[in-house]
Amino acid sequence: MATDRMTTDTAIKTVVLTGPSRGLGRATTLAIARDGHRLVLIGRPSSGFDSIRREALDAGAAEVVMLEADLQSVASIRSAGAEIAARVERGALPAIDAFIGSAGMRSANGRTATADGLEATFAVNVLANVILVDALLPALAPAAHIVLVGSVLHRGAFPFTLVNPAPVWTAPHDLAQPNGADSDAAGARAYATSKLAVNYLVHELQRQVPDGVRVNVYAPGLVVGTGIVRELSPFKVFVWEKVMPAVRFPLMTDEPTSTDLLAAFALGESHPEARAQYVELDKAIAASKASSDPQREAELLVACRAIAGSL
Ligand SMILES: NC(=O)c1ccc[n+]([C@@H]2O[C@H](COP(=O)([O-])OP(=O)(O)OC[C@H]3O[C@@H](n4cnc5c(N)ncnc54)[C@H](OP(=O)(O)O)[C@@H]3O)[C@@H](O)[C@H]2O)c1
Repeated sequence: MATDRMTTDTAIKTVVLTGPSRGLGRATTLAIARDGHRLVLIGRPSSGFDSIRREALDAGAAEVVMLEADLQSVASIRSAGAEIAARVERGALPAIDAFIGSAGMRSANGRTATADGLEATFAVNVLANVILVDALLPALAPAAHIVLVGSVLHRGAFPFTLVNPAPVWTAPHDLAQPNGADSDAAGARAYATSKLAVNYLVHELQRQVPDGVRVNVYAPGLVVGTGIVRELSPFKVFVWEKVMPAVRFPLMTDEPTSTDLLAAFALGESHPEARAQYVELDKAIAASKASSDPQREAELLVACRAIAGSL
């Protein structure tokens, strides 16, 4: 059931969001649109991406700006980020109040390579966020909020390990290489590891952004019916969509509930003081112990920038 949420601040905010074509990103887009805010949506061409602009306007968005980018392509992400920054600089867009990095993927193996030669999960779930945040920095409002969508699977804890193996951290340059196993377990591990990396990014970015800017992780619980399992076997999809809700697996929730919470969080209506915080649905809680590692955090950001810079 959707949470009952009202906007108390009537000012129109400008929100940049990745992954608006389907699933949680699409529902979050519509939640933000219903509150009358301005949206800048980044996605690759698809029927979902084509239709979301009209739907968001019909839902009440003040304005919807569409920017095409394939998050598997460094050049494409960079160009979308630069375009937004340029529009803000010349006054065609107000400064960005919130960035929601919702786009994500779960590969069926550990060796899917992007055209840039990078492991796809790392490229989309980790590197794309770094490139976009870096590009948007000069365009952010003084109290902007950056929210990257993480996952409880970063914990590698029971009972979640029944359905997804724990993350395995290695040097970021290795994580970026598409040389994992050709197995679903490797894809699942890359996914969990990418979400651990999201926690690291948020910690390190919070240290580096201007004082007023907040950077946080939102973990959306477990929501069936999105496209995140679309590359998996029919059996895995069956377990995910039918078995896990039936056995009341922890953190199962529905799309409206999860995305209303994400919209409220991103807009500063909930947890307004949170910084470098892991927020799981409505709760600001500690991420896994492994998520606090200043050395890994710094190395990851340096590596991402080096990888992006080399392409
Ligand atoms: N569903 C869950 O239970 C759950 C739990 C924890 C975390 N999450 C996270 O929530 C976020 C949204 O996932 P979801 O469940 O809503 O999955 P989804 O329905 O598959 O949505 C993923 C979104 O990411 C976009 N995307 C993926 N690769 C892209 C690329 N190369 N270029 C541009 N856009 C790309 C997709 O666009 P296309 O339509 O073009 O593919 C889509 O809009 C992800 O970060 C996911 O890891 C989900």
